[in-house]
Amino acid sequence: MMDNYKAINWNQISDQIDKATWEKLTEQFWLDTRIPISNDLSDWRELDEDHRWVVGHVFGGLTLLDTLQSQDGMAALRKDIRTPHENAVLNNIQFMESVHAKSYSSIFETLNTPTEIDEIFDWSDSEEFLQTKTKRIYTLYHDDEHPLKKKVSSVFLETFLFYSGFFTPLYYLGHNKLNNVAEIIKLILRDESVHGTYIGYKFQLAMKELSDNEQQDIKDWMFNFLYDLYDNEEQYVHKVYDQVGWSDEVLTFSRYNANKALMNLGQDPMFPDTEADVNPIVMNGISTGTSNHDFFSQVGNGYRLGNVESMNDSDYDI
Ligand SMILES: [Fe+2]
Ligand SMILES: [Fe+2]
Repeated sequence: MMDNYKAINWNQISDQIDKATWEKLTEQFWLDTRIPISNDLSDWRELDEDHRWVVGHVFGGLTLLDTLQSQDGMAALRKDIRTPHENAVLNNIQFMESVHAKSYSSIFETLNTPTEIDEIFDWSDSEEFLQTKTKRIYTLYHDDEHPLKKKVSSVFLETFLFYSGFFTPLYYLGHNKLNNVAEIIKLILRDESVHGTYIGYKFQLAMKELSDNEQQDIKDWMFNFLYDLYDNEEQYVHKVYDQVGWSDEVLTFSRYNANKALMNLGQDPMFPDTEADVNPIVMNGISTGTSNHDFFSQVGNGYRLGNVESMNDSDYDI
């Protein structure tokens, strides 16, 4: 006989972080369809073929990673929830991952021809280094023996692997180009920042329940895994960015964010890179808020649904 099925009670919260995260995520809800991407067409037409190729293909890569998060990631994490409210938060995250994945298609539809779009998807569905990282994380998501490794995978994906792709729109934003495309990326980035912090927090709770030896095993595995992913990322970045000469700067940005991923997981940094090493134009792009969005109007830059700001560590001082 199965146990009684329980209704979720939001008036009885065992972990206030669940409620705070739910509120944060729901108040920053957005949709790609509200951003006037076509306003970027004149900037787009000024880019040469190599730079257009980079934009299209990094977005192809990001589409694949957001697809993985929406189709496998959150479902995998849902198997190890600690509270019913965590399940609700993961439901929100899962839907937003679908919005993220779809946003890139909205960008392609506006900037690229049907033939170019087909080529981008053929590329992301087959590119060696992109597929390597995706498959490694997919495999961990489907290994129910190691719930903590799933959480590490999710945080590495969200807080580290996305950033080689985010570099391009942030770079253009810093040069006052492709502002509406960048606006979408900033909304995605703002979501990923909450996702990475939240999953990292749940990881740290579970970690505390392990013995010292078990904790050390997870730590060793985590640092090795990050190193493997970085090794692959180096090859991916060179393949995508060498043609425009940005590879070194992108890798600095990736290492800086890899450290942030470790921080979300309660670990010390692995790379020497700090904020000061990252291209200041990109750092500028990342630190500006998103434009005000008027939800009920497609005129102007999107919509307003409560005033929201980027998540930072102090949001978790409850
Ligand atoms: Fe996402
Ligand atoms: Fe995410």
